[in-house]
Amino acid sequence: MPFGPKAPIGLDIGSGMLKVSRLKEKKGGYELELFESLPLAPELIVDGSVIDSLRLVDSIKELIRKAKVKTKEAVISVSGHSSVIVKMITLPEMTEEELEESIKFEAEQYIPFDINDVSLDFQIIGPREEPGQMDVILVAVKNDVINDYISVVKEAGLNPVIVDVDMFAIENLYEVNYEIEPNRIVGLVDIGASSIKMNIIKGGMPSFTRDTPIGTNILTEALQREFNLSYEVAERLLRGEAVEDVSEEAAEQVVAEASDEIIAEISRSIDYYRTSMMGEEVVELILSGGGALIKGLSERIKERTGIDVSIIDPFQNITISKKLDESYLRDIAPIAAVSLGLALRRIGDR
Ligand SMILES: Nc1ncnc2c1ncn2[C@@H]1O[C@H](COP(=O)(O)OP(=O)(O)OP(=O)(O)O)[C@@H](O)[C@H]1O
Ligand SMILES: [Mg+2]
Repeated sequence: MPFGPKAPIGLDIGSGMLKVSRLKEKKGGYELELFESLPLAPELIVDGSVIDSLRLVDSIKELIRKAKVKTKEAVISVSGHSSVIVKMITLPEMTEEELEESIKFEAEQYIPFDINDVSLDFQIIGPREEPGQMDVILVAVKNDVINDYISVVKEAGLNPVIVDVDMFAIENLYEVNYEIEPNRIVGLVDIGASSIKMNIIKGGMPSFTRDTPIGTNILTEALQREFNLSYEVAERLLRGEAVEDVSEEAAEQVVAEASDEIIAEISRSIDYYRTSMMGEEVVELILSGGGALIKGLSERIKERTGIDVSIIDPFQNITISKKLDESYLRDIAPIAAVSLGLALRRIGDR
């Protein structure tokens, strides 16, 4: 391994919460040997961009201290519809090397930013039915966003070795833990504090992605408004903690009403997919992110979409070290998902 005895950490710089994981490679799988999280004030990262880098650096340092991390190498990720563009495109058939050479030219017409201001990556999905054509996933991330994250991570004393994209980190985690069946269509849905990231995969390959700027923050805000609470107290209430003067039932009622917008968004994306893919059906939705822990949400998504919904289980092929609190980690697994997906990455991957 390129890192000596220790693998890199997976550092998920979420807009509502920082998470860090480290996985040890074991025969036939992985062992989680470290996990820690730290809530972030909502104004530090907005719409996928770093707004307050000084406080973010301090929070990352605090997380690293808390987790007692000695590893410097970190795999990080970016997300957000205004910084990351993921597109399925069709190109004339060519080799990976040829596409490497011409990607900038091919991508230009699909990217709404100056092609010189973005970093590009791609994955060839395979040939199309029409001869001579192939499907490709194109990923473009704004350079200034990548650079902001890299400098924050460096300022915090770490060495960023890979920059991934949230929805691909989840896909990575999914592939390690679930059986991939040809042609089976599964929707990976990450409901974070400020965004919903969807990645519908067919036979293990992405076939539709969407990043929408709403998340559990709308629930926190609804609780703040209804009960006149600070952000911190409303967050505690959302997590199911008891808060003075607010009954659990009243809070659940407010959350249920406010989460309608989240459910509607997911349902719209599924409808869009069905229409644009000529009737192809998603057979299962797998939730991750803090939103997966909202009481009753997965049931209501199932009700609305008619699709089976489950919460991601990262611990099918990842064991949990005896040093860690297994039942806690199983409870918060969906929150750890992106950091676990990042911790699976190794230098030399693409
Ligand atoms: N136990 C819980 N029950 C309900 N909601 C929770 C729980 N724990 C966390 N949350 C909600 O989930 C949010 C954090 O989720 P997550 O860590 O997935 O977001 P994030 O990665 O920081 O955000 P984003 O991906 O949008 O940038 C918290 O802000 C909170 O609102
Ligand atoms: Mg997140």
